Amino acid sequence: GTTLRASAAEKGRYFGAAVATGKLSDNTYVTVLNREFNSVVPENEMKWDATEPQQGRFNYTGGDRLVSHARANGMSVRGHTLLWHAQQPSWAQGLSGTALRNAAINHVTQVATHFKGQIYAWDVVNEAFADGGGGGRRDSNLQRTGNDWIEAAFRAARAADPGAKLCYNDYNTDGINAKSTGVYNMVRDFKSRGVPIDCVGFQSHLGTTIPGDYQANLQRFADLGVDVQITELDVMTGGNQANIFGTVTRSCMAVSRCTGITVWGVRDCDSWRGSDNALLFDCAGNKKAAYTSVLNAL
Ligand code: XIL
Repeated sequence: GTTLRASAAEKGRYFGAAVATGKLSDNTYVTVLNREFNSVVPENEMKWDATEPQQGRFNYTGGDRLVSHARANGMSVRGHTLLWHAQQPSWAQGLSGTALRNAAINHVTQVATHFKGQIYAWDVVNEAFADGGGGGRRDSNLQRTGNDWIEAAFRAARAADPGAKLCYNDYNTDGINAKSTGVYNMVRDFKSRGVPIDCVGFQSHLGTTIPGDYQANLQRFADLGVDVQITELDVMTGGNQANIFGTVTRSCMAVSRCTGITVWGVRDCDSWRGSDNALLFDCAGNKKAAYTSVLNAL
């Protein structure tokens, strides 16, 4: 194929981008988005602070706008994210214990029900594991409601939207290390006990190097019986950016259960990583060497 979306589709995969809905009125942005991508994820619009700014009062404006853009342009949608320690509304930050647990599960149920049938895969829980060598959970207000908060969230999401794939998503899990092994052990436990989980997302916010066991790590999760997806790919300049993008793409293509790749933005100037110039298109929307490297690897 001559575009990312066509080439990925030929291989039964999707190629996606994180979208800030405020940019859907930028012609250059939309031209590149519609030409190259067949999957989108909202960069912020489906997070807890955006969707439930006041307890029990939901706002789906941004999410609905992205879903309708996707439908009109033959794109699938990743939902991001139902529960996370960050970007919580202030009312939730002030809750704890049973009140927080009930609010969190209600949030999962309400949001997944609103978008029922429109979401290919939900990041049900984002970034719940700690960095460093312990391999354990991150401390957070959600974690302090009890270690079973993650499985409770997955069960609520399944009940609300049985057609969506349900993912656990995290960063610094891109090679075989203590953190990724902690996630691996949780997924293995969930599969053995019938907790509904279908996929694991590897954010892949990369610096100037990529772990040598990147593909082996994807494969060991796939071997547990879940799909894997690259969910927030961006790569710092300074190392060989084009090579690293190519290696990630080849790794996904080599793992049959790796169903798609999402880059975390369209142009360098759209990126949350600012001066890293971490994406596939320059600020004018021109293809970079990293783009060609990805296209050739699809
Ligand atoms: C980032 C967005 O890109 C920013 O616009 C926002 O200010 C902060 O969040 N991991 C995630 C994403 O799961 O939701 C984050 O997105 C980037 C890190």
